[in-house]
Amino acid sequence: TAAEKGGHDWFMRKEIFEQPKAVADTLLGRLGPDGSLVLDEIRLSRDELRSIDKIIIIACGTASYAGLVAKYAIEHWTRIPCEVELASEFRYRDPIVSPQTLVVAISQSGETADTLMAIRHAKAQRAKVLAICNTNGSTIPRESDAVIYTHAGPEIAVASTKGFLTQVVACYLLGLYLAQVHGTKFGDEIAAVLAELEALPAQIQQVLDTTTEQAMALARELVDAPSVLFLGRHVGYPIALEGALKLKELAYIHAEGFAAGELKHGPIALVDEGLPLFVIVPPRGRDMLHDKVVSNIQEVRARGARTIVLAEGEDTEAEPYSDVLIRLPTVSTLFQPMLAIVPLQVFACELATLKGHDVDQPRNLAKSVTVE
Ligand code: G6P
Repeated sequence: TAAEKGGHDWFMRKEIFEQPKAVADTLLGRLGPDGSLVLDEIRLSRDELRSIDKIIIIACGTASYAGLVAKYAIEHWTRIPCEVELASEFRYRDPIVSPQTLVVAISQSGETADTLMAIRHAKAQRAKVLAICNTNGSTIPRESDAVIYTHAGPEIAVASTKGFLTQVVACYLLGLYLAQVHGTKFGDEIAAVLAELEALPAQIQQVLDTTTEQAMALARELVDAPSVLFLGRHVGYPIALEGALKLKELAYIHAEGFAAGELKHGPIALVDEGLPLFVIVPPRGRDMLHDKVVSNIQEVRARGARTIVLAEGEDTEAEPYSDVLIRLPTVSTLFQPMLAIVPLQVFACELATLKGHDVDQPRNLAKSVTVE
């Protein structure tokens, strides 16, 4: 009913707008007053955590993209090798798993069969399994050694939004906690990163307030586009994949995400006059990534693409090559994904609405896939 949807036309739209609260609730009680991280709920001892020498994240769909984002942060903070694998592939390839391996299963529902089968396979090989889950008492956390709950509240729309954002946040908490326990040289920076996490809900709100109209106007403009591409690099790459997935799931149009660095190895052949191409530009920092992605925008625009650029507000280098510029708050590279995804969610939701589709129940899809 309309009341359940909080006055929104779709649960998805309601859930998009709930994201600042979902993230705040996921952080609640986990940030200690002294700038440390409290994650006592993890039922693994410090010795067990210290013994971990490899992390494998397994998940399906949107949750797997949360894992891809997290890999960058977790390896950077912990210096523990971290792989991300689709749950449906994991157990069929004879993966190398030992008691020192931490398998992290990300699942909003906690009932996805592919993910469940993957953790059973991991447990049979005596790996430690930690679930990141939004559903209390569901099967995946029940069968895991440890769990970090995301506190997003019930997610009704089939396409995951607040589930995704809170999964990234929970993975970051895990990464920081492991860094704390392992005592990596990164240790001194943990408090600063926790402060960035604390600032996140207000920044997501700012993105909702300042980019929603623009994303909706863009949906009206592109409602008949046969194909939309997304480019990103580093943590922006999984956001390109997730932006494309949302469009496929909801609008039933061809959409693909690419790593910007791969452009010249294939995708640039697809670029044609008028092709809508979203580009997620990393913040301007010390490394070269920002400039390289700006060059990519120039390259695709020179070939006729219509460039829709997501960049930090003050990005004067990207601006001249942007047909549409969606301005994001300035944050560090690892925190940009949680902001950049928001207008892409709004865009997909609106475009599907304009096409007359059932946004909350897209054809052929299920919220929780309980068969392999
Ligand atoms: C289904 C849903 C997706 C979701 C995926 C993983 O395919 O349609 O929206 O991302 O399952 O679900 P989970 O509950 O395991 O996060």
